Amino acid sequence: MTTKTKQGNKMKSAEKNDRFVWTRKHLLGLEDLSKQELVHILDTAEGFKDISERAIKKAPALRGKVVVNLFFEDSTRTRNSFRLAASRLSADVLEFTAKGSSVSKGETLRDTARNLEAMGIDIVVIRHSAGGAPYLLSQCVDCCVVNAGDGFHEHPTQGLLDIFTMREARGDLAGMKVAIVGDIAHSRVARSNIWGLHTLGAEVFLVGPPTLMPAGADQLPVTVCYDFDEIIGEMDALNMLRVQFERIGLPTFPSVREYSRLFALNSERMKRAKKDVLVMHPGPINRGLELESEIADGPNSTILRQVTNGLTIRMAVLFLVNQAAAEKRKPEA
Ligand code: CP
Repeated sequence: MTTKTKQGNKMKSAEKNDRFVWTRKHLLGLEDLSKQELVHILDTAEGFKDISERAIKKAPALRGKVVVNLFFEDSTRTRNSFRLAASRLSADVLEFTAKGSSVSKGETLRDTARNLEAMGIDIVVIRHSAGGAPYLLSQCVDCCVVNAGDGFHEHPTQGLLDIFTMREARGDLAGMKVAIVGDIAHSRVARSNIWGLHTLGAEVFLVGPPTLMPAGADQLPVTVCYDFDEIIGEMDALNMLRVQFERIGLPTFPSVREYSRLFALNSERMKRAKKDVLVMHPGPINRGLELESEIADGPNSTILRQVTNGLTIRMAVLFLVNQAAAEKRKPEA
């Protein structure tokens, strides 16, 4: 069964300008970004692609700047990707992990950030289990803040790299049908994808068991579907989400086997999909649970391409927020 729940487009102030100028010194989510802003990030990332293909993979855009990776949750892809992106733009990078820091002595997020800021940092990249932590930080520091994933709220650079990968493969997002499949309730990746894809004109389908749909799904600009087989044949991209066992309290489906039977992408289910469907996953993958290994490593998979594109997207984001901060510091003429 499917339920249509479209939300009207909001008026986007930046779209009114003929000559677009990026003005945000923080990237906290994709929900508030206009189409013009999203396209500007994607186009900026496109321009950074060639740096990674050079013999000397460096550009001077952030020379003399300091980026701190403030991670209160584990990460493989996002943390290393931000680190490498900052380093490719010639910034100095400070790595912070809650374990081994004064957070264990009770220091607050605000105090931690303000003390790091006192050392002269320019950009904080933060991952935190609490939704809204990056926003809170943006209210109490002068430097730029970039959200690297906050609770169940948003993971904007993951959303952007997913969208960049789809645009790279298809050219235009408008009219694309994208299914986000699995544990939507606990997924910040799903939320950033929903907002970004909707603003760029794609049609988003949320697929999963009712117990893994978020509260208020009917307020999102999506079509909700509980039967994967009903819609798989129409989709241009399948973004398979990880079942986040560490965030699920009580069991939300009868068994792992039952979940896989209904919602996993396996060879049998792939037969019903379009031949050129994009198979996506933000990682880390529960191989054999939401995605069969043969499909994850197969010809339709964009999973490693997404990781490669993540570096380019993060270079663009670091570059743009720093540029906006520099503009704001300029004395008025
Ligand atoms: N996709 C993603 O956020 O992966 P990490 O948790 O490894 O950063």
